[in-house]
Amino acid sequence: MTDIVINTSNIVHPVSPMLYGIFFEDINYGGDGGLYGELIANRSFEYYEREVNPPAHAEGAPDIQTMCWETLNGCRFTIGKRFPLSKAHSNYAHLSGEAGSGLRNLGFCGEGLAVREGQAFRFSCYARNPLPMKLTVRFADKSGDLYGSKTFSLVRCGHGWSRYRLTLTATGSCRQVYPEILLESEGTLDLDLISLFPEDTFLSRENGMRRDIAEMLQALHPAFMRFPGGCIVEGRSFDNMYRWKDTIGPLSERPTNWNRWQMEEYQLDGRSSADYFQSYGLGYYEYFLFCEDIGAKPVPVMNAGMTCQWHEALLADMNELDPWIEDILDLIEFANGSEDTPLGRKRAEMGHPAPFGLEYIGIGNEQWGQVYFERYEAFEKILSEKHPEIKLITCAGWTAEGEDFDTAYRWMEANRNRAYAVDEHFYKSPQWFLENIRRYDGYDRSLPKVFAGEYAAHTHEDTSKRVCNWFAALCEAAFLTGVEKNSDHVVMSCYAPLLGRTGRQQWQPDLIWFDNESVYGTPSYYVQLLFGNNLGASLVETSLAEDTAAEPAASASQATAISPAALAGGAIQTSSTLSEDGKTLYVKLVNLADRNLEVTLKTDRPVSACRRFTLAADPEDVNSHAKPRRVSPVEDTLPGIHPAGTKDLPLCLKRYSVTVLACTLI
Ligand code: AHR
Repeated sequence: MTDIVINTSNIVHPVSPMLYGIFFEDINYGGDGGLYGELIANRSFEYYEREVNPPAHAEGAPDIQTMCWETLNGCRFTIGKRFPLSKAHSNYAHLSGEAGSGLRNLGFCGEGLAVREGQAFRFSCYARNPLPMKLTVRFADKSGDLYGSKTFSLVRCGHGWSRYRLTLTATGSCRQVYPEILLESEGTLDLDLISLFPEDTFLSRENGMRRDIAEMLQALHPAFMRFPGGCIVEGRSFDNMYRWKDTIGPLSERPTNWNRWQMEEYQLDGRSSADYFQSYGLGYYEYFLFCEDIGAKPVPVMNAGMTCQWHEALLADMNELDPWIEDILDLIEFANGSEDTPLGRKRAEMGHPAPFGLEYIGIGNEQWGQVYFERYEAFEKILSEKHPEIKLITCAGWTAEGEDFDTAYRWMEANRNRAYAVDEHFYKSPQWFLENIRRYDGYDRSLPKVFAGEYAAHTHEDTSKRVCNWFAALCEAAFLTGVEKNSDHVVMSCYAPLLGRTGRQQWQPDLIWFDNESVYGTPSYYVQLLFGNNLGASLVETSLAEDTAAEPAASASQATAISPAALAGGAIQTSSTLSEDGKTLYVKLVNLADRNLEVTLKTDRPVSACRRFTLAADPEDVNSHAKPRRVSPVEDTLPGIHPAGTKDLPLCLKRYSVTVLACTLI
């Protein structure tokens, strides 16, 4: 029996209210083809040959601008360029054919979309037609069966573009249909920005997010969202860098950028990601709005005048950093400026007169070395002078130890006040997470605070063999108890990456997986959910008199065996926090042992009720589309609590489990 003694009257330190957040990057088709509700791939015919070799597009393959589209019934389809919709949308579809000819969109990754009977979709397109004509838009499966159809007239004729919108309702349910656009009679026309959204996007917003994925994110109650990357912020070339101004304003004025993740070998079976682009339909306005919708503070990461250091590592000259610094000044105006400022007015015109309340900005993603810090200093000098209210986040490189990491800390020792926080990234083995539970205990509190901006326990060195199992999640949970204990200094944290399209990922593990029909959280997702939703405002003194020998599991396979070194810190890891009003005590208990452990929780104040959430599974267990909640929390009420209050709470911690208690204190 182990006693866990909690003294709520001894507050150790305040807990950062920003401790648990999310990190969104458009990787694994997480943005276009994922969270962003658009269902048409290559909607503006703007896919293009990337400038970084090797070429994405195989020789002899159809024109890259027509990628994701197929012709139907002899339609003649070419890419028009002479009279474009806008500078940013310089291509369009030029079609001619007989009645019944037209185009089919293959959807993201060629997977079309799933429809439910009665589900309504918003279809829209720009059209230009010399003569009046009719079009039909419909859902058809590969065998030609129809799941909804609507015919509409293109009444406006001539040289200009006209926008048409309609609602298309599915007449049946099908796992994979394709949107088709057909000419009703022989004719010629131009089409551009062909778009299809489910009507029931998250909060029913137009140009909104896919509801089921967004709700999974909302359920985490993330304190912040770091976005839009990740490596896509840096890009692989100057043209490929993420420039936020490309992503605001009308969709018809947002250019397309290739997604640098299309260059990563597709991890599971070598399929190409050459169709992976950023439409920027999910842009900075949408990111800010989504943050507001889910109650998360926005934490944009801005380019530091450098492309990805893993690859080309191109550098903007030190004398030519102004455009990148101005980009950040402008972003602050767009987010926070009054309607009297040009960019504040732009925000208002887009539909949000009130400021978005931007407080944090990351300068660079995962950068390292002298080349980074000299650039950071140039950015910081101007930004801190013009916007001392903004908290700047610097980088500690690509991993949380070693020469590059030490260089970052040496820079911070010499520049203690030049960053609010430093962004540490660690993709490490589960054992590493256990061995590092006390990592932050000795951190110098006079240095910038820590933002654990990307982390995940990787079960294998080979990406394709990594799994999102309970063992990884359990080790992350144990590590997070150490983070909570140091949450005066580790002020923000987020798992990475967030989203993966099943079978089309460039990176794994990911926190949440989705396909066209469903979405599920990994065991790590449920750890994040329990930890983030049960967090108090102050850390309280907790001591553990453990008599449990922390022996390695006899039954565990090699992959999930916890080493003696990792267990040296004890089989039970715990942290306790008290709510701001002092009425709720949150206790997290992680049992790393291969057997159930009996413990008694001894609290200085009586507990009158206690909700318990238990996550327990075999180390190798995973969730899947078929079994989305195989590893998920079970909620119950702790039995045996006297209504007048109980100070000793006996409980059993299941083998390999996370238990989270929310105790009402008298
Ligand atoms: O999260 C995936 C990638 O890992 C990020 O884009 C990058 O910052 C890191 O290398």
